[in-house]
Amino acid sequence: MSTPEFPEEEHEQVAGNGLLHRRLFLSQGAALLSAGSLGLMTARPAAAQALDPWLLTPGLALSGYGERSPFEADVARTVLPVAGTTGSGASRTPLESLEGIITPNGLFFERHHAGIPEIDPERHQLLIHGLVERPLVFSMEALSRYPMESRIQFLECSGNSRPNLASTPPQESCGFLHGTVSCSEWTGIPLSILLDEAGVSSEASWLLAEGADAAAMTRSVPLAKAMDDALIALYQNGERIRPSNGYPMRLFLPGYEGNACIKWLRRIKLTSGPQMTREETSKYTDLQRDGRSLQFTFDMDVKSVITSPSFGLALNGPGLYQISGIAWTGAGRIRRVEVSADGGQTWAEAALSDPVLPKALTRFRMAWRYDGGAATIVSRATDEAGNVQPLRSDFMAANGPQVSYHNNSTQAWAIDSDGAVSNVYV
Ligand code: CO
Repeated sequence: MSTPEFPEEEHEQVAGNGLLHRRLFLSQGAALLSAGSLGLMTARPAAAQALDPWLLTPGLALSGYGERSPFEADVARTVLPVAGTTGSGASRTPLESLEGIITPNGLFFERHHAGIPEIDPERHQLLIHGLVERPLVFSMEALSRYPMESRIQFLECSGNSRPNLASTPPQESCGFLHGTVSCSEWTGIPLSILLDEAGVSSEASWLLAEGADAAAMTRSVPLAKAMDDALIALYQNGERIRPSNGYPMRLFLPGYEGNACIKWLRRIKLTSGPQMTREETSKYTDLQRDGRSLQFTFDMDVKSVITSPSFGLALNGPGLYQISGIAWTGAGRIRRVEVSADGGQTWAEAALSDPVLPKALTRFRMAWRYDGGAATIVSRATDEAGNVQPLRSDFMAANGPQVSYHNNSTQAWAIDSDGAVSNVYV
């Protein structure tokens, strides 16, 4: 493979080991560059095109519900059931195979505690009771009459990125390591509207949300969050929520850990305090160095990961590459993502691709002139509240080896002189 030309005035190096200015990916940045100087192209001179068989005969029939190309069949979630079960456990989004910020519904991560219930929406109801003036029950038909909102927001399991807490770096894909985060357009009814109708009593300060699965998955949620931006989500990316994501409705709490966003929601009880359910006592608590455990650590922290190149996506010789990744934070918008190609010695700012939305995945891109030698690439995000994603070494030093949830530390990928990518710790 020939090395393209890189006019220095258009591709100034901004950090060590070949990181180039982000203007290439800023709005209209690429258009300002002449095509010949982009240095991105690896196309060959034109030649006659073959008459492939699909040009010569009519194609497949129309269908009622679309399918992707069979050539994409390898793009699939990593399915990891709890031993002895088929429906409990998690499946992880193949982040390394996706672009943009929306996760396709068929690849959205799953985490179930007693399998996926098959719920008849005609029989399903949402009950709101407890410390309210008027206990209410909502059928699906009744809910469909309330005003709806749509928002693009991420959902992340609090146990995401746990594989990288191991003492040696697992050689696994980006999705295996970090794939219990996904992002959708969610459409539904603000919970505050339903609570206002029920009339929240002045003694209420929390609520209990309960799912209709066989685990009766139950979490306590502060009333302030419910009144702020909680959604009763009915639609995901334009279609009704899939059974694996809570059909016919789920509680969606933007920026909160996924387990609090109760799927198959059947009951909300207004209470004067948290109810100390199984999922907030024996599970989903954060063991500290001194033996104490923190409860109700809902907020997901600022985080980023390079999805390409990453483990399993080898580089094809020296040249100009696009480093692409995702960043997100429960605190609002991503303000900045920095990338290093020398293992964190020097950093340069990546371009953030529009749209940059609060509590959504944000796509970042970085131009990189790979010289064919060894390199270690890593990303670090900062959010609009000023929170900075910690290096893995700092995170482990601060939290101790017993840490299990909320790993928002950096992911480093080492590239060897053959272009192969491996997971390394820095
Ligand atoms: Co937590």
